[in-house]
Amino acid sequence: MSKRVLSGIQPSGKVHLGNYYGAMLQHLELQKENEGFYFIANYHALTTIRDKNLLARNTHDVALDYLALGLDPEKTVLFRQSDVPEVTELAWILSTITPMGLLQRCVSYKEKLERGLPADHGLFAYPVLQAADILIYKSDLVPVGRDQKQHIEVTQDIAAKFNNTFGEIFVIPQERILESTAVVPGIDGQKMSKSYDNTIEIFADEKTIKQRVMSIVTDSTPLESPKDPATCNVMALLRLVAGPEETAEWERRYRQGGTGYGHAKKRLIELLIETFGPYRRKRTELEKDPRYVESVLRKGAERARAVAAETMKHVRAAVGISYDPAELETA
Ligand code: ADP
Ligand code: TRP
Repeated sequence: MSKRVLSGIQPSGKVHLGNYYGAMLQHLELQKENEGFYFIANYHALTTIRDKNLLARNTHDVALDYLALGLDPEKTVLFRQSDVPEVTELAWILSTITPMGLLQRCVSYKEKLERGLPADHGLFAYPVLQAADILIYKSDLVPVGRDQKQHIEVTQDIAAKFNNTFGEIFVIPQERILESTAVVPGIDGQKMSKSYDNTIEIFADEKTIKQRVMSIVTDSTPLESPKDPATCNVMALLRLVAGPEETAEWERRYRQGGTGYGHAKKRLIELLIETFGPYRRKRTELEKDPRYVESVLRKGAERARAVAAETMKHVRAAVGISYDPAELETA
């Protein structure tokens, strides 16, 4: 049965293998049989970007990325988060029933503070806006990488609390996390993330892809010795781009010995160029027509806004913000 699938990507930097295999590939697959709502979370990105040109540029770029990767704008709704301002209204309403403790437990907030980001309110309240994103479109399914699991749980808690307090308005959404791509490692073996400078960008030019792959951290096992495919960062990435048969063959060669990490890196470079080359060419084409990209986002916003406005009608009535003066009860 067709479901409403929703997800967001922050325009906080260039799309990398973690974003693609953890989230975007799921989005593109799911759009075929479902109703996809995918948006560029520029309100969220404001918690970390303070340069207006950069935020605008990145926002446009994420739209380009999705379209180049095959998002079908006729079927799927692609939009900018801020083009549906109702979402910030809902975020406020939800924040009035969100326990502080729920937000204080959020790991991603704590990690951001550890990385030196200032403890701004927006950073702290970030999961409430995310809950509003999900709930306002009555989403059934939220495809994401593992780092977002806790935010979906917060959303479920907030939705249940709202429904208990004010009546059944919201659908309780489910996360969709694929085990094999839940945490894509970066070139240093930590989770790949724009914030850790350990990414391989999917639209990087060939020279950059080569440089990044060559700097993937490996251990010092000599070429002739057997190697453990389960702990190797090169293998972890190779597995994403190579088919199952080729992956099995590399695993066998690793265990046998006589295969160096350099061999696997060379193949990984080839596969990355082969896999993303056609998308990169499509992206270069689309880049020439910024008005087209903008028109897709505007149409997407219209469709998204119609859904959000309908939900907000019910929410406002449920909490007592909109009412009919003729039907007021006396307290
Ligand atoms: P980043 O951590 O690079 O800033 P985002 O927060 O913009 O990435 O994430 C966008 C989407 O990509 C989210 O669904 C997130 O879970 C997913 N994602 C990001 N990094 C990875 C990764 N290394 N492995 C799997 N999924 C990831
Ligand atoms: N917090 C998500 C991230 O950093 C982006 C996001 C914002 C999102 N709103 C969302 C993801 C709603 C899924 C659903 O990746």
